[in-house]
Amino acid sequence: NAGAGNRIDSNTLLFGVIGNPIRHSKSPIMMNRAFRETGINGVYTAFHVTSDRIADFAAGVRAMGIRGVNVTIPHKLDIMSVLDEIDASAQAIGAVNTIVNEEGRLIGYNTDGIGYVRSLKEEAERELAGKRIVVIGAGGASRGIVYALANERPARITISNRSLDRAQELAVSLQDAADIIAITHHELQAACEEADIVINTTSVGMFPNIEETPVNASWLKQDAVASDLIYNPLKTKFLLEAEQRGCRIHGGLGMFIYQGAYAFEYWTGQPAPAAAMRETVLASLQ
Ligand code: ATR
Repeated sequence: NAGAGNRIDSNTLLFGVIGNPIRHSKSPIMMNRAFRETGINGVYTAFHVTSDRIADFAAGVRAMGIRGVNVTIPHKLDIMSVLDEIDASAQAIGAVNTIVNEEGRLIGYNTDGIGYVRSLKEEAERELAGKRIVVIGAGGASRGIVYALANERPARITISNRSLDRAQELAVSLQDAADIIAITHHELQAACEEADIVINTTSVGMFPNIEETPVNASWLKQDAVASDLIYNPLKTKFLLEAEQRGCRIHGGLGMFIYQGAYAFEYWTGQPAPAAAMRETVLASLQ
């Protein structure tokens, strides 16, 4: 029954998210709304798991038959060593954010990159082929996004990171998929000046440090897209400054919704109620 309350009983399917810290996570409210909306008898909660308990956690998931788990900071890499199988794209990305428990076999996927690209296309830029894209940051989130963008036939992806070696490593690891280069901080202005899309994947500008910006928005072309993975605040200072300049802007909420929607689809085989999921998360942020 759409909209009916979850009835928890002895057939309820179990789901959750693991991370450290985890109490700020919006995933439980988003996913429980999705189960209510689709009438699936499931419940989703948050597990605070420390890095030294990852193997115990995986054993617990198998023993108790927890059907699906999302994985967030700082476990997206560590978790890979305790899974039974890793999907090819998660393997190439080098990070897992979604686990499906198939009768005790734990299979890892990554829905961050595809979630991001779907949101970018819907909200800001339908056509990514031929585009010059600058990505700031080379951490876990950046890896999934660069992998997914590389499959869209961009003209070039330029990665800038505080520590250059991480940007270089990412560029090299995906070099067969697209024209990807790493640049130093000194080359960032010139790269932004000719970019069609500039994406912040770092935590710079995230609540509570809302006065920080990862890049000077005045470097962007006026017809460029400014994109930020941060969704708290919904509009970072980087996006506000880019908007004032006339740029199209794209915040991180859509990526969060769609990474969850793809996870839901892996677990249930059903289309996710993305609009309802967005409504619930948005309401909790305001
Ligand atoms: P996530 O999974 O969110 O990507 P991560 O793997 O820890 O988390 O990566 C964080 C990214 O934000 C990295 O690119 C990091 O730069 P370094 O590789 O040099 O550490 C970047 N980052 C975090 N804080 C930053 C800051 N204050 N200034 C610039 N970059 C920052």
